[in-house]
Amino acid sequence: MCKTRLNLKRISVGILLILQICVISLFFNMQPSYKQSSRSSVSFLVATPNNKTDSKPTTYHTSHSKILLKSINTRKLYEDFNSSLCYKKGTDIKLMKRSHNTWKCECLPGYHGIDCGQAEVIWRTLLTLRKPIQLKGRSFERRIIYIFEISEITRTISDIRLNELNQTVDLFVLYELNSDFMGNQMTYNFLKEFHDKILYLRVTKVDKLWFQVNRVIGNLKQDDLILVSGFNEIPNVAALQFFKLYDNWPEPISFRLRWSVFGFFWIHPNKTFLKVQAFTKKYLYEGLNNRLSSIISNNKTTSNFNIGDLNHYGGWYCEFCNDPIKIIDELNRLPKQIFDDGNAKTIDANYVEELIENGIYIDGKTELLRAHRFRESYFAPTFLTENTWKYDYLMLNIYSKMDYYE
Ligand SMILES: *[C@@H]1O[C@H](CO)[C@@H](O)[C@H](O)[C@H]1NC(C)=O
Ligand SMILES: *[C@@H]1O[C@H](CO)[C@@H](O)[C@H](O)[C@H]1NC(C)=O
Ligand SMILES: *[C@@H]1O[C@H](CO)[C@@H](O)[C@H](O)[C@H]1NC(C)=O
Ligand SMILES: *[C@@H]1O[C@H](CO)[C@@H](O)[C@H](O)[C@H]1NC(C)=O
Ligand SMILES: *[C@@H]1O[C@H](CO)[C@@H](O)[C@H](O)[C@H]1NC(C)=O
Repeated sequence: MCKTRLNLKRISVGILLILQICVISLFFNMQPSYKQSSRSSVSFLVATPNNKTDSKPTTYHTSHSKILLKSINTRKLYEDFNSSLCYKKGTDIKLMKRSHNTWKCECLPGYHGIDCGQAEVIWRTLLTLRKPIQLKGRSFERRIIYIFEISEITRTISDIRLNELNQTVDLFVLYELNSDFMGNQMTYNFLKEFHDKILYLRVTKVDKLWFQVNRVIGNLKQDDLILVSGFNEIPNVAALQFFKLYDNWPEPISFRLRWSVFGFFWIHPNKTFLKVQAFTKKYLYEGLNNRLSSIISNNKTTSNFNIGDLNHYGGWYCEFCNDPIKIIDELNRLPKQIFDDGNAKTIDANYVEELIENGIYIDGKTELLRAHRFRESYFAPTFLTENTWKYDYLMLNIYSKMDYYE
């Protein structure tokens, strides 16, 4: 307990120091630019017109684009040790180079399999299959197309998804239902650093979505993976990576998601949430009659491959992971009966803050369970554990004094 407190103090002192250094260096950097401003702006103007890369900034793709997905060889993800190919990310390369037993890949903690290509959650899932499967490594990465809806209330989760999954997903299809003609969520440079990987579509009905995706992407293959998500889901990137590199698993795939509420510090007592979320293009045609919309609208489809269990998660279901004002906004869009149990309560920011502070679900009665950030390896997506500052209110219960002493 005391140790964490000390650590927190140290971290905040560290942050203050870094901020100071930034301010000081900013100050010094700005000095010369005042003196040289006229000269530098002239040379800037001269240089740009001839510069092809500068004159055409990348932007996101739309229904008018034509996208060709790349085929990427998997070879560079593996290291060749004389007799065995080992998956670099999962292998203790240093150990293997020191010892000369190169007939067997030595896996890092959290990775398994002959080539160390199976993250813990995948390995455990494979162990539970009634009929063992013969996995086959691929020579080209399977492409993953991740389709989800964006709206005012999902900006945070969307940003987390892109950051978490950018390396593994080949194309993000962000669609907006234009029930009203109010603003496009992609304005103001939303997700700017990922624009070359984003296809943004406005559709009137989800039914039309697959047709558009199929038309814009010129070279979809039968074995490309289609991943879909509702508002609250963030798939586990290590689990997803497995599908890029191996063949012969059953589908459709569900992910058993850790059910967090208000942030990653509270867990719903039901603990997990199972969602059918991924399948190949081939399966979409043959097994689902091409009805992407019925999967998205949560129509019952039984899954043949459930990734994750009660201790190892296929991802996160982060419900009401917003600030209190947006949570109220979100509640206003839900069917009323979910939180209305007769005695009308005004749901305002104060009320929501109280729920968050005390760990009470949005129904006003279900008690949530505490999660432990420094003790649990599946506390939150990696992007957030490595960049806590970006969404600190999802990592730390800022309404509870308790959390600082944890
Ligand atoms: C931009 O243009 C300048 C001048 O023509 C050239 O020296 C520079 O290499 C160009 N930069 C890029 C990234 O092409
Ligand atoms: C590779 O394997 C061959 C034959 O098994 C052996 O002679 C050689 O020493 C091995 N090289 C290394 C670097 O382990
Ligand atoms: C996203 O991933 C691609 C590789 O697929 C990489 O080239 C790019 O730099 C990444 N973008 C960001 C912002 O990390
Ligand atoms: C939680 O689990 C119980 C028992 O499995 C189930 O009856 C209930 O509907 C679940 N609650 C929610 C909100 O899904
Ligand atoms: C759900 O599935 C049933 C039959 O499988 C179908 O009749 C119905 O239209 C589907 N609903 C949606 C919203 O796609």
